[in-house]
Amino acid sequence: MTAVGIDAIEIRAGKTRLDLPGTFAERKGEDPEKYTKGLGLHASSFPDVYEDIVTMAANASKRLMDRKGLQPDDIGRIDVATESAFDNSKPVSTYVAGCLEQVYDGDFNHANKGERKFACIAGTQSLNDAYNWISAGRNRGRAALVIATDTALYERNEPGEATQGAGAVAMLVDEDPSLVELSAQQGFGSADETDFLKPNQQFPSVDGKRSMQVYLARMREAMEDFASAEGDVNPEHFAYIPFHTPFPGMVRKAALLGYRNGIRDTDIEDALAEEIGHQPRREAFDDDESYREALSEYADALAKTDRYGEWYDAVIEPTLDISRHVGNWYTGSVHIARVSALKRAADEGRDLVGERLLVGSYGSGAQAEIHAETVCEGWLEEIEALNIDEQLDARYELSFEEYEMTHDAHNHDDEGEYDELTVPSDEFAFDGWGRMGERKYRYVS
Ligand code: HMG
Repeated sequence: MTAVGIDAIEIRAGKTRLDLPGTFAERKGEDPEKYTKGLGLHASSFPDVYEDIVTMAANASKRLMDRKGLQPDDIGRIDVATESAFDNSKPVSTYVAGCLEQVYDGDFNHANKGERKFACIAGTQSLNDAYNWISAGRNRGRAALVIATDTALYERNEPGEATQGAGAVAMLVDEDPSLVELSAQQGFGSADETDFLKPNQQFPSVDGKRSMQVYLARMREAMEDFASAEGDVNPEHFAYIPFHTPFPGMVRKAALLGYRNGIRDTDIEDALAEEIGHQPRREAFDDDESYREALSEYADALAKTDRYGEWYDAVIEPTLDISRHVGNWYTGSVHIARVSALKRAADEGRDLVGERLLVGSYGSGAQAEIHAETVCEGWLEEIEALNIDEQLDARYELSFEEYEMTHDAHNHDDEGEYDELTVPSDEFAFDGWGRMGERKYRYVS
């Protein structure tokens, strides 16, 4: 079977930056360490007034198409995953195609376009749709453009405000990929949950603490399902394990759960038993509560072992490098975690060809998915072509008042006029409203 996977990735961050332990914590009267140590966040990226989910998606896609020498004819499918859409009918992918058609010869008339919704997991679902389309042989030699784009904004003065962010990830999915080949096996954990939702409203209703429990429960189920499909969830068999990252502190919890589950009945569990005993087994307990308490004690002890610490520093920590400086990008978050890890490997001169990643995606509402990927021959060239460090360094630093203005400017119910903080150049920018209430865009040279 032909290999199918991600051939190239481009990332577009919102052009402004909010310092969380500094500007934000200070104004909220909070300890900066809640951000740096607790949540694991240093900054959030925000869109300037003329940026939105379409401009970020189109700018990432244009850079990707230019870099890969693609024309619209080469793309047979454009899927956008987002939970920040502003239209219940016309998909964001049509706006993105419209933007790109301003700057390329040709058009996307024969490309199938759509929009995927399932909170943050929709980005991975779109990736899977593209994989299935190509694997089924329906692509006629063309590639799929998969874009995850979001402005992750919460109501002001709600706890979620600490974990905001904005950015887009554009991925080219193709045969014989240069970056990673996707595995056919998947594991799912899915249940009807109401921990985070937006019932016809822009900002989410969130039960923050519960959302974290739901994330962990679905992720555990997905791992079990994946193990039953593929058999190998041994955490030490993977070079990196990128998880959906609403904030790095969440991944700290997910990684511990994943490691504990993954080493069950393995030599690793036996090797650790001298130090911390074996994992508790349900049959040894009279009730669920005492079993859960014992599991939690075991997990606390596990987290303190050298073996776990070394594994975490090597396999998980590198996935968080970008997230710490941009916050939650919802649909894009797990995809920047993958890039983050590959970037770290490139910086360290590590040869990753043939190594495997285990990818843990998640969306509230709620569903988790696990799949494996194999790093391809061209990964280094692809990763070295990214300009994410330059983008992050060039961001405009927001004062607290400018942050509030930015939040208002992107509030769909706010009709105020706001001044731009940066000057658009060589990029797509929002250009006002059309006669049917559509958003308009232009390429600013
Ligand atoms: P909060 O009340 O602001 O924060 O809510 P907290 O008081 O719980 O503190 C956060 C962490 O910092 C805790 O760590 C504190 O102990 C620690 P933990 O106990 O959990 O390990 N902390 C400190 N550490 C060191 N020094 C200090 C200090 N102070 C506190 N001084 C919450 C945090 C995440 C609940 C909130 O921000 C929120 O509601 N966020 C939005 C929901 C969310 O992100 N949920 C994550 C799981 S659901 C998900 O990932 C899906 C999502 O991406 C949406 C989608 O799928 O579409 C959100």
